[in-house]
Amino acid sequence: MGKLNIVGVGPGSKEYLTQNAIETVENSDITIGSQRALDLFENKKEYIVFNVKDLTKKLEESVEMAKEGKNITILSTGDPGFSGVLKPIKRISNEKGFNIDNINVIPGISSLQLAASKNHINWDEANIITFHGRENIEDILQYINNGKTTIALPSRKVKDMAKFLLDNDVNPNREVIVCERLSYPEERIVKSNLKEIANSEFTYMCVMII
Ligand SMILES: C[S@@+](CC[C@H](N)C(=O)[O-])C[C@H]1O[C@@H](n2cnc3c(N)ncnc32)[C@H](O)[C@@H]1O
Repeated sequence: MGKLNIVGVGPGSKEYLTQNAIETVENSDITIGSQRALDLFENKKEYIVFNVKDLTKKLEESVEMAKEGKNITILSTGDPGFSGVLKPIKRISNEKGFNIDNINVIPGISSLQLAASKNHINWDEANIITFHGRENIEDILQYINNGKTTIALPSRKVKDMAKFLLDNDVNPNREVIVCERLSYPEERIVKSNLKEIANSEFTYMCVMII
């Protein structure tokens, strides 16, 4: 069996890549990732691009290639263990009988960590929650008024999350910070309140602090 490296690439800019991530990619036979993630690495050998539609298929193929003895690296934005590639890879490896001891996870800086840093938040004292790829956003209601800051990866659009909270009687003046495209040149940090955010447009690449 070969090795399967699951490498966190950080929030997007090269300055947040770890040395370990760079060296792991340099030493891999094949690196697999989104075009955006692959572009961060100058010295890669063979590579395969995945997109949202063919992600599962490409992950399955990656496990097969590692089983055949290749040294494979899969790139995951932020940290692989937070709404990242680690979860599906564990499921696929289990289904295909690929030993978890041959999976090497290299952490990356998560978008939520960068959002916390930029806003001087101790995230050990925050509610951390991800709705990425999930529909059950009502889970947020059990935390939202527990006196702690909530840091969330939104489900669908930021404005829909804000509308959902307003519909569920969260104070319209509650402070909300939206951190969009963190670490990219177009980074935008908007400090406002729930009512205003419910009427604002953002891209999908956002962390919400409530
Ligand atoms: C599939 S999840 C991956 C999360 C990733 N594993 C992490 O630790 O940041 C993708 C979501 O993460 C958030 N995200 C990732 N990179 C971001 C960035 N640079 N700025 C703001 N949000 C980001 C967005 O909510 C995006 O829809």
